[in-house]
Amino acid sequence: MVMETLMQDPVDCSEDGLWRSAGWKELSMAHTLEFSFPVEGRSFAKAGDAASRVKQLLKQAAIPTAFIRRAVVVAYEAELNMIIHSQGGTLELLVSPAEVVIRAVDVGPGIEDVEKAMLEGYSTAPQEARKLGFGGGMGLPNMRRSADQLKIESDLEFGTVITAVISLRSDAS
Ligand SMILES: Nc1ncnc2c1ncn2[C@@H]1O[C@H](COP(=O)(O)OP(=O)(O)O)[C@@H](O)[C@H]1O
Ligand SMILES: [Mg+2]
Repeated sequence: MVMETLMQDPVDCSEDGLWRSAGWKELSMAHTLEFSFPVEGRSFAKAGDAASRVKQLLKQAAIPTAFIRRAVVVAYEAELNMIIHSQGGTLELLVSPAEVVIRAVDVGPGIEDVEKAMLEGYSTAPQEARKLGFGGGMGLPNMRRSADQLKIESDLEFGTVITAVISLRSDAS
């Protein structure tokens, strides 16, 4: 139920409406490519599948390699976080001539302290994930470094929405 609501209108999770006031709807309509990939919580065997599809699609869209690399880092870390820390959700890819947007929408349990979660090395990854080599606590910091804009909206009731924008304008690369 919550899943459906989030997938139909992920922007509604925004508490402060930043994306809306920044013209998110207009941007969204201008995106020439829109894809979404389901991501299951705890599906460690499928880790990286959605990010690989993102890479493939960006190559097909003839996005320059340097931007693809950054977008794939963001997509991979967002996908992994949904697998490790959430009950699942959707990884979305939006592309326009101006930007690549990666959005991860999950169904919870949400991030209690986003500022803390952004710290390098901070991780609440369970033992199951650590045994597989995940849980270094560098995912969110890497996403921040790789994206031109990163927005984390999290709610302990509804889950987490992470939106990363990679600008394709050469002055922002
Ligand atoms: N989608 C998410 N849902 C819930 N918690 C998350 C999510 N993404 C990140 N977190 C929290 O933020 C912390 C830091 O994330 P990250 O920097 O990617 O490190 P790691 O994934 O290695 O733990 C996680 O350990 C977790 O507590
Ligand atoms: Mg991570």
